[in-house]
Amino acid sequence: MHVNSKRTKISNMFRTAIQRLTSSSSIAAAATAFGAATYAYTFDNPVSASAKADDSSEMDAIKAWMKETDVKLAKLEANAVSSGASSIMDTSKATNKIDIVLGAQWGDEGKGKLVDMLGMHYDVCARVAGGSNAGHTIVVDNVKYKFHLVPSGILHPATKCVIGNGVVVHMPQFLKELKGLKEAGVDTTGRIFISDRAHLVFDFHQAVDGAQESKLGRNKIGTTKKGIGPAYASKISRNGIRVGDLQDWEYFEERFRALVSSTMSQYPSLNVDVEEELKVYKEIASKIKTMTIDTIEYVNSQHKNGARILVEGANATMLDIDFGTYPYVTSSNPSVGSVLTGLGVSPNKLAGIYGTVKAYCTRVGEGPFPTEQLNDYGEHLGTVGAEFGTTTGRARRCGWLDIPQMQYSAKINGYTALNLTKLDVFTGLKSVFIGTKYVDADTGKPIHSMPASLRQLYKVKVIYEELPGWTEDISKCTSFEDLPPNAQAYVHRVEELIGVPIRWIGVGPGRRDIIYRDV
Ligand code: GDP
Ligand code: IMO
Ligand code: MG
Repeated sequence: MHVNSKRTKISNMFRTAIQRLTSSSSIAAAATAFGAATYAYTFDNPVSASAKADDSSEMDAIKAWMKETDVKLAKLEANAVSSGASSIMDTSKATNKIDIVLGAQWGDEGKGKLVDMLGMHYDVCARVAGGSNAGHTIVVDNVKYKFHLVPSGILHPATKCVIGNGVVVHMPQFLKELKGLKEAGVDTTGRIFISDRAHLVFDFHQAVDGAQESKLGRNKIGTTKKGIGPAYASKISRNGIRVGDLQDWEYFEERFRALVSSTMSQYPSLNVDVEEELKVYKEIASKIKTMTIDTIEYVNSQHKNGARILVEGANATMLDIDFGTYPYVTSSNPSVGSVLTGLGVSPNKLAGIYGTVKAYCTRVGEGPFPTEQLNDYGEHLGTVGAEFGTTTGRARRCGWLDIPQMQYSAKINGYTALNLTKLDVFTGLKSVFIGTKYVDADTGKPIHSMPASLRQLYKVKVIYEELPGWTEDISKCTSFEDLPPNAQAYVHRVEELIGVPIRWIGVGPGRRDIIYRDV
C-alpha cells in the first residue's frame, strides 16, 4: 500500500476510536478500536509509536488523536473503576450547562466528596470563592486527600481544574498541595489553571487575621487565621495584588512594597521581611507562570466548545458575608452568586444547583447556632461523625438539622437537588430530631424568616420533631430501598420540609459510600 493511503487508513482508525469513545460508554469497544489503531501506527513506524518518524501534518494529527484517545480512555476507565461512582449521576441528562455544588449550612457538609465523585463526569472543575479557609476531605481507597485550594476534581486525570477570579490564593499553600499530589502520584501538569485576576493572600494577611482575632478577645469570630478577611479587605480597598501581577515583576514589587507599608502603618508590631518575601515570590512567579491564565476566557470558551463544567463551592451560605450570621461569617459570598462573580459566567449557563447538607448540623468558630446540642446527642454526633475541622483541627459544634435555616438557604440558592450527607452517623440513636420552626422565646410567636439580628437569633426557641432512630449499619447500603424504614422516613421528612429532592445520600466517607436516587 502506498505510504500516504496507509496513513490515511490509520488516521481513519483513530477517528473511529475517538468516535466510539464519544458516542458510547463501552470501554471495551473503544479500547479495541484504539488498540487496533495503535497497533497499525506502531507497525507503520517500527522504531516506536512515539518516535519522530515523520514530520507530516498527518502524523501530527495521528499523535494528537492518540493523546486525545488516551485521555478519553483514562476517563472512561476512571468511570468504571471508581467504586461504583459512575452510577451516581444520570449521564443521559447531562448538558454542557454549569453545575454547582454548594455548602448549604455552616460548612464542612461534605462538598469535596460529592465534587470528587461527580468530577469524572466533567471536563472542568472550578473553585470560585474563599481561599485556604476551605478544607475538603476526600477518601479514595482508604487514602485521605485534604484540599484547601486545589479543586477536588483534580483526582480525575481527564478533568481540568480552575481557580477562579473570586478566590483568594495563598501561593505557598497552593504549591504545597500540588507537591503533595505529585508525591501521591497524581499528575497535575497542564491540568490546573489560576485566574490572573484572583487576589493573593500573603503571610502578613494571616498575621493580621491572628492579630485581629486576639484584639477581639472573647468577641472573636473564630476565623481559620488563613488571612481570608484581610486579603479580601485589601481587594476591596483596591490595594490588593493579583496573581497576574506576578508576571510583571516591577509592578508587583511596587505594589507589594506599598501594600506592606500601608499594612504596617495599621499594625506597627507586624514583622515583614520585605526583601525575603520578594525573593520567595520571584521564585513563585516562575513556578506558576504557565498556570496563570485568563480563566474567564478559558471557562467561557470551554463552555462554548461543549465542555461540562462543575463548580466546587467553598465555605457555605450561613457563612456568606451578606446572608450569613454576620459578623460571624467569612469575608466572601459562598452562595450561588459567587459562581457568576467568581468565575465570570452568565446566569443563563447555570443548571444543577446542588446543596450539600449534613443530616444534622455543625459549625466551627463562634456565632449563633440555634439547634446546637451541648449534651449527649451533640457528643454522639461529634464523636461518631468525627467532627474535627479539616483546616484547623478544631472540634466542630454539633446540633440537629435546622429546617428554617435550610429553607432560607434553599430560597437564596434555588437548589435543584440536595446531597444529604452523613446519615450513617445517626445509627445507634433511639430517636433523631429535626428543628422545624423558630419561635420568639419571649412572645411565643412564630418567626417566619431568618432573623438578621443576632440577638434575636441567639434566643430563638426551636420547635423539634422527634423521629424514631435505627440500629442497623447503613454504610453498605447501595440503594434507597436498602435503608432501614426509619432512615427512609427521615429522608422523606427532610425532603418534604425543605421542599427540594434529595438526590444523593451519604452513608460513609469513601467514594463508594453514597446512594443515588433518580429524583
Ligand atoms: P467539605 O468542607 O464540605 O468538603 O467537608 P469536609 O471535608 O470539611 O468535612 C466532611 C467530612 O465528612 C470529611 O471528613 C468527609 O470525609 C466526611 N464525609 C463526607 N460524607 C460523609 C458521609 O456520608 N458519612 C460519613 N461518615 N462521613 C462523610
Ligand atoms: P469548607 O469549604 C467551616 C468559618 C470559620 C469561621 C468563619 C470565618 O471546608 O466548608 P475565615 O477564616 O473564613 O475568616 O473564618 O468562617 N469557615 C468555615 N467553617 N468550613 C469552611 O469551609 C469554612 N470557611 C470558613 O470557622 O467561623
Ligand atoms: Mg471543610
